[in-house]
Amino acid sequence: MRAHALSAAQLDEPRLDTLDVGAGTGFATEGVIAHVDAARVTMLDQSPDQLRRAQAKPALAACRKVLGDAEDLPFPDDAFDRYVSCGSIEYWPDPERAIREAHRVLRPGGVAMVAGPLPPSGRTARWLADAWMLFPSRSDYVGWFEAAGFDDVRVVAMDAPWGSSAGDGGYAVAVAGRATRNGAPAPSPNETVGERADEPWTARRLLRFAAGSLAGALFVPVGIYMNLRARRAPERSA
Ligand SMILES: C[S@@+](CC[C@H](N)C(=O)[O-])C[C@H]1O[C@@H](n2cnc3c(N)ncnc32)[C@H](O)[C@@H]1O
Repeated sequence: MRAHALSAAQLDEPRLDTLDVGAGTGFATEGVIAHVDAARVTMLDQSPDQLRRAQAKPALAACRKVLGDAEDLPFPDDAFDRYVSCGSIEYWPDPERAIREAHRVLRPGGVAMVAGPLPPSGRTARWLADAWMLFPSRSDYVGWFEAAGFDDVRVVAMDAPWGSSAGDGGYAVAVAGRATRNGAPAPSPNETVGERADEPWTARRLLRFAAGSLAGALFVPVGIYMNLRARRAPERSA
């Protein structure tokens, strides 16, 4: 799955300056450095703890580690040839803004690839998913890329590691596009959407927090149960 997603990023040359956003402990980055010189790879994450764990991996020692926010990248315009992000978009409060940032930091002709989930198919799973995290549709991903100024936008569908195909025609997608000279204007610092850490703890926020936490806790076991049930159904009807 990792190799499939990364193939959309066109890591076809070892000297590509590459940014991995939401790099975490570096699972996707390990796939990137199979194609690109590690010293040309920058890992960005908002979590110091994740970056510390990445730092402990000898294979990633040469990669630059930067603490920062996908929606407000601490890099100048036109700094990279490639932008990759795997399994992080679902945590971003304003993905459209983050993808504009991807375009801003890429040189014209550079390629961005974002891999993320699709909405699950079952009604219960979809409800839990929506209460918990972001599960964008294919058209959301493509729309954000196009609005940011990318052209040649492509979608690579990915099946679940356990083999079932769910939701919007798949389990996850890798969406890639080529940066142009006509990017959307850089997001302004005042332009924030989504959650604020300093939002007061009203009853409504507490309820939202409790519902989101419960949905997150239930999502995996419910998903496993529904998957097993779907697998057994054809066996039973055979
Ligand atoms: C599920 S992990 C994926 C890590 C990695 N890409 C991989 O393939 O294993 C998601 C990562 O996204 C990071 N993240 C979430 N929101 C972020 C943001 N707004 N800016 C930067 N990193 C973010 C988290 O800290 C976490 O390390």
